[in-house]
Amino acid sequence: MADSPSAQRPFDAIPDGDPVISFRDVHKSFGDKHILRGISLDFPRGRTTVVIGPSGTGKSVCMKLIVGLLVPEKGDVWVGGTNVPDAPEKDLMSVRRRIGMMFQDGALFDSMSVGDNIAFPLRRHTKLREAEIHDAVDHALEQVGLPGIADRAPSALSGGMRKRVSLARAIITKPEIVMFDEPNSGLDPLTSDEIDSLISRMKEELGITFIVISHDIVGTFAVADKIAMLYNGHLVASGSPDEILHSEEPILRRFLARNMDLPALPGAKP
Ligand SMILES: Nc1ncnc2c1ncn2[C@@H]1O[C@H](COP(=O)(O)OP(=O)(O)OP(=O)(O)O)[C@@H](O)[C@H]1O
Ligand SMILES: [Mg+2]
Repeated sequence: MADSPSAQRPFDAIPDGDPVISFRDVHKSFGDKHILRGISLDFPRGRTTVVIGPSGTGKSVCMKLIVGLLVPEKGDVWVGGTNVPDAPEKDLMSVRRRIGMMFQDGALFDSMSVGDNIAFPLRRHTKLREAEIHDAVDHALEQVGLPGIADRAPSALSGGMRKRVSLARAIITKPEIVMFDEPNSGLDPLTSDEIDSLISRMKEELGITFIVISHDIVGTFAVADKIAMLYNGHLVASGSPDEILHSEEPILRRFLARNMDLPALPGAKP
């Protein structure tokens, strides 16, 4: 734990680009399935880190470890100055307040209007008055490019609009960190591009630290400042998009080659 000094400081004291979340030798099992086998990974403040890897490799588990919804058997998960697995309830709540989450299965409540969906975290976690909540909802909808749809029913929206409403719900509490599990799944390429632009714009304009989990390689390179690949319980590669693109790590090459027009091994003789 001594090797993640900046992550042990409060958020505000962490310079842009220094780790705001740090995994240190994190192990997580379910029964006899050893899912994470010693993951150490930093997520820099004010940047977008994309976690990639095959299905079932523990990407969503990592997200749940960050907010203490799951607890590792071993290792540290630093968020700001808090080691989440050891944190008292009060500190855990403060971590959760500072993180906006969009879970993979985090659908909207179809029985509520779009506005009530977005207002949900505010009604739950703050004592804001209704007029203030309405203003905040309108503002969040503007930020995701959907002004004026608060009264609509989620069932009347397209898939891309629903994702954007979910993002509005994730940012309504003005979190410093936003975690987005599979933002592009089920979307057509054009709508995926819109979501990617939205993530990049929010990072630039609001200084949000994004953690994105993705299967979509094109989207990954569109939004990432850092890419980390999990495979078989280990971190097999991590670095800037350029470093990842030129990495010779064979598993990473295979993963990229399946999704992009890349040779499986750079420089390999035909
Ligand atoms: N609460 C849980 N109880 C038992 N097993 C779990 C639990 N959560 C996750 N797992 C198991 O841990 C493994 C990793 O799950 P996880 O959801 O993190 O995968 P993933 O990398 O996000 O995959 P995908 O790309 O398909 O979403 C899976 O085998 C899953 O069944
Ligand atoms: Mg997942």
